[in-house]
Amino acid sequence: MTDQYAVMGYPVSHSKSPRIHAGFALQTGQSLTYEALAVEPGQFAQRVKAFFEGGGKGLNITVPFKQEAFALAEQLSPEAEIAAAVNTLLVDAEGRLQGHNTDGIGLVRDILHNHQGELERKSILVLGAGGATRGILLPLLQQNPSRIHIANRTVTKAEELVSQMSGYGALRAGGFDSLEGQAFDWIINATSASLQGELPPLPPGLVQPHSWCYDLMYGSDLTIFGRWASEQGAAKVLDGLGMLVEQAAESFFLWRGVRPDTAPMIAALKDLK
Ligand code: ATR
Repeated sequence: MTDQYAVMGYPVSHSKSPRIHAGFALQTGQSLTYEALAVEPGQFAQRVKAFFEGGGKGLNITVPFKQEAFALAEQLSPEAEIAAAVNTLLVDAEGRLQGHNTDGIGLVRDILHNHQGELERKSILVLGAGGATRGILLPLLQQNPSRIHIANRTVTKAEELVSQMSGYGALRAGGFDSLEGQAFDWIINATSASLQGELPPLPPGLVQPHSWCYDLMYGSDLTIFGRWASEQGAAKVLDGLGMLVEQAAESFFLWRGVRPDTAPMIAALKDLK
């Protein structure tokens, strides 16, 4: 039987993962199937169990099940543990359900390998303190930035994250008003504000001519954050399409032990945008 993979979410029909993994399989000569499975809320644990009992090899997990997948996993990668969310599941040789989170690794690989960006000794501002921020913090800190400042509308959420992560690197928290008078090498938008066409209230001066800005979201046009970053004169404005493909490549690598070349897939998806 051909090895089976899938993404579970609700809804899931919009997911680009089947296309991306089919492309990776073709490119690397790996024989596998990958489908999108819509799972009704309340059915997640039993569907995962049935998938693996039926011989399934690996799952991607998307909204709204990443936290449930975290709770279900018997073993967690450090990234998944800190994110408190799992986007990749597999069963290891001992039969244990392993949970990984490849989102932050995907972001870092996109920055370093696809854009030749630098994070080491750079100052980073992360906007937002929700699930998306949790998913990227550890891989960002592992790049040894000079500091990371987390700014969030609800300040206590940013403060909680920082106290949980103290010991991993130079981390600070505050509200958007705490940004007055500061500047950063990197500004990463991990809020969901772009989805509602909104922009956090950001003071002028954050973006310097050498600063790079990255929105974890992506769309057919620049996001509202991307437009703001351009207007502020950022050296580079990036969106989350590369991260999407890179997190998929990392899952593929965990499952198959083979690292696909992501550039052709990023180019193909860009053409579709
Ligand atoms: P995700 O998994 O996408 O991170 P989430 O956990 O609901 O989703 O977090 C959404 C993040 O976007 C939060 O940091 C949220 O701020 P609050 O913690 O104050 O709710 C932020 N956010 C959403 N809409 C926003 C807006 N219009 N302006 C500023 N921040 C916003």
